[in-house]
Order: sequence, then structure tokens, then C-alpha cells
Amino acid sequence: MKKIGIMGALQVEIDILLEKMDAHEKRTVAGFPFYCGKLYGNEVIITCCGVGKVNAAACTQALIDKFGVNYIINTGIAGSIRSEIRVCDVVISSDVTHHDVRKDQMTSLFPFQEVFQANGELIQMAKEACMSTLEKNKHHIGRIVSGEAFVSTTQLKNDIKEAYQPACVEMEGSAIGHVAFLNDVPFVVIRSISDNADEEAEMSFEAFEEIAAHQSAGVVLEMVKQMNLSEGYVKRS
Ligand code: ADE
Repeated sequence: MKKIGIMGALQVEIDILLEKMDAHEKRTVAGFPFYCGKLYGNEVIITCCGVGKVNAAACTQALIDKFGVNYIINTGIAGSIRSEIRVCDVVISSDVTHHDVRKDQMTSLFPFQEVFQANGELIQMAKEACMSTLEKNKHHIGRIVSGEAFVSTTQLKNDIKEAYQPACVEMEGSAIGHVAFLNDVPFVVIRSISDNADEEAEMSFEAFEEIAAHQSAGVVLEMVKQMNLSEGYVKRS
């Protein structure tokens, strides 16, 4: 049976998934916890990678090498970059990239990609999951950018906006997409907004971290419910 790898950076981003999961094994690789089991009849490996791109990259490679996952879903929270994307809205990645790596480095050096495209089928499933779990106009599909910084100034937010036109910013998605691309594994990043990546970001993050993390995990739960990997189909008919 095909396997789905689900990653969150923080425990709060995966806790409701772990509660629903029928876990039969916990393994530790490179310090990361990997919970193996079933979720709505599908084989899943759920992990918590910690904050930042290096952690996310190492954990993604372990998920692929040691657990042989066929799909990767990253769930969590993010800072909004666009005024129409509000706190607790959900963003589904169309593509991901690093906002702290120069574009010419991305294109002229290995792996010669300015952005990493999320998988179309996973995007579609995430969209359907949003439509059945969220109110209308609460989900968005767009670019998600990542870097080694919690963005909390209007200046940095505007610089990122101008350079990349993203929907939201976080600290792991681009590394997950980058490693997934290198290994030819389909991926999607799903993030719920905890703050607006401005001077109020830290206060907003504290207030909305848990609500947003659970909102995003709820979308992933619905996605996995709709998948039926035992019969070789991605989508339940
Ligand atoms: N994750 C949630 N909010 C964020 C922000 N403002 N910057 C980076 N990562 C985030």
C-alpha cells in the first residue's frame, strides 16, 4: 500500500492527527520521532521536524529513505503576506521557494529550480477538503515561501512580497518541497494563518498558534479521509 508522510514543525501542528491515528510503532531517526500507523485506513507516517529549513530537509529525507513514503503533506501555521488572506484562513501551496536564497543561485546552480511545484492532485484534494471543512472564501491557493526568520517587520514582509509575490511565509515548506523534488516525491504544503508577519506577529502568533495549527490539521484529516490508497486510487470514489 502507498504511504503518506505527514510533517509538522511543532507538536501542536500534529497533535490532533496523532490523536486520530491508530499508531502501531514509534521510531526515532536522527532525533526525529516517526509515528507509523493507520489513519482512516491509509498507511501514514507522522513526524515532527522542528523549526527551520535544515531540520525540515533532514526530516524529509529520513521520511523518504527510511519509511518509503509516496506522498508528503506538510501541515502547520504561517504568516500572511496579503491583506485578503486573514488569520485562520488556509493556504494551499501552488509552489514553494526559499525567500533567503538569491534567485540566480536557485536557477544557475543545482537543482536549477526557482520554485518547487506542489503536486496537482494533492492540491485538488486539499482544495476539496477545505471546501468541506471551512467556510466559503477561507482557503487560498498560492506560493508559500520559507526562510530562517520569523517575519515580524513590515519592511521584511514588503521585501518578500515584492520579490516573490507569495500568499504566506513560514520556515520549513520550501525545504520540504526542495527535498521532495530531489527525490521525485509528490508534496503539498497546507498552512493556516496565525499572524500577518508584521509588528504584531508575535502577539498574534501566541493567540492563534493552536487554533490555526488545528485548523490546518483538520484539513489534512479530511484529505486523508478522502484518500483510499489500499485500492491504488488516490481519491475515494
Ligand atoms: N510561522 C507563523 N508565522 C510566521 C511568520 N510571521 N514568519 C515566519 N514563520 C511563521
